[in-house]
Amino acid sequence: MLELKVPDIGGVEVPIIEVHIKEGATVRVDDPLITLESDKASMDIPSIYTGTIEKLMVKVGDKVSQNQVIALISQSQEKDINVSSKVVNEKIITQKEELKYPVIETLNSTNKPNKPNDLNNSIEVKPAISVSNQNIETVIFNNVQHFSHASPSVRKLARELGISNIAQVKGSGLKNRITHDDIKAYVKQALQSNIHQQTNNGSNNSLASNLNLIEWPQVDFAKFGAIEQKALSRIQKLSGANLHRNWVMIPHVTNNDEADITELEKFRKKLNNEDAGKTIKITLLAFLVKAVVVALKKFPTFNSSLVGDDLILKKYFNIGFAADTPNGLVVPVIKNVDNKGIIEIANEINDLAQAARNGTLKVDQMQGGCFSISSLGAIGGTTFTPIINAPEVAILGVCKAYQKAMWCENKQQFVPRLTLPLSLSWDHRVIDGVMAGKFNAYLGQLLSDYRRISL
Ligand code: COA
Repeated sequence: MLELKVPDIGGVEVPIIEVHIKEGATVRVDDPLITLESDKASMDIPSIYTGTIEKLMVKVGDKVSQNQVIALISQSQEKDINVSSKVVNEKIITQKEELKYPVIETLNSTNKPNKPNDLNNSIEVKPAISVSNQNIETVIFNNVQHFSHASPSVRKLARELGISNIAQVKGSGLKNRITHDDIKAYVKQALQSNIHQQTNNGSNNSLASNLNLIEWPQVDFAKFGAIEQKALSRIQKLSGANLHRNWVMIPHVTNNDEADITELEKFRKKLNNEDAGKTIKITLLAFLVKAVVVALKKFPTFNSSLVGDDLILKKYFNIGFAADTPNGLVVPVIKNVDNKGIIEIANEINDLAQAARNGTLKVDQMQGGCFSISSLGAIGGTTFTPIINAPEVAILGVCKAYQKAMWCENKQQFVPRLTLPLSLSWDHRVIDGVMAGKFNAYLGQLLSDYRRISL
């Protein structure tokens, strides 16, 4: 059995404000045992052994000094890194060695770091250097109003659990100090209220409250007739969350245009007839995928992603296409389209769409996309607003081709032309209306006369 003792804290008695261990608990080297606090600083005392706490010798409120036994520990077989001598002998804390020393946080709300040997004039404190915590630095150097009492280990736990502003947590400890339990309770409550809001309201109310929107309507649907409640599928939940984020975060604009695909459709049918008997049919989507890549080469901004203030321009051409599956929408990606011909692309669309419907699509088959196409062509519609698939900056929506009466100058009459509606949504932070109009018009030209693809 070994003793876990208070290291050199400078010959003074300092009260314990938190005890992090209990009898029977397992601790590892560097786990905090207790937190001490004087009127100038607080400090976690870490364990120097790994093992099981056999007897706890202190409690909150006790005043302790150097060499006082905190607990008895039965050491485990794990090899410990004994840091006690360093703790005792070296009082200067460096950022690099931060984890090996008792972590000290100043409670001094003035702009200046404490003087050496100043935990009740004994511990040397280098506050902002010793604790790489933005909150603490803010407290020390900006002399802010919203000071929160919390030990370094509590702050560390808060950071690990994603609490960006510890001042939001209500402290239940001595002098309203924030404890580990307060942090856990705060996170638990935040999670519960988020789940509650999403379940009850069908919307993200925390976002709504951030935007200062009125409450989501609460309706007892059963009051008006029979209902059936059905959980969203896993894919619906995942894609829904992505679509929601993209819709809210990206300033979308949609340009609608049309392409005369009369000749292209004749060509497609001819190819399919030549290939009659083969299993794979060439659909319009394969031609669209190829044409989009030629347009991306002409307008490289559409083949980019916005990262901070920079555009990442991609030199590869991977095109995603929305595929409808019994469980929801997925977007498989055809890689390196610029190196592939129409038949190869058609084959790949077929394979990927099959895999999507069977639920056997692999994660990497949905990654690396540069631009997406959402085709409702087999279904109908005239225009729609496809939602950009972040971090891409544009998406092409395609509706059902229809026969349109077009004025023919030569013949001085209207002639029927098969016309494909194109709806291009783009991110207005990256692309402007002129560029989008040109992209759509160029795509229309390519589809109207597919020979242009080879130019
Ligand atoms: N106009 C007219 N006909 C069209 C067309 C268009 N724009 N696009 C496709 N068609 C035709 C095809 O040529 C085919 O006709 P055919 O049998 O006479 O040759 C028929 O519609 C069926 O095509 P489909 O099997 O759907 O193939 P596809 O390559 O067009 O599409 C998928 C494949 C995977 C994209 C499609 O099955 C799918 O899932 N679409 C839904 C996408 C989606 O959910 N989008 C919305 C996202 S919010």
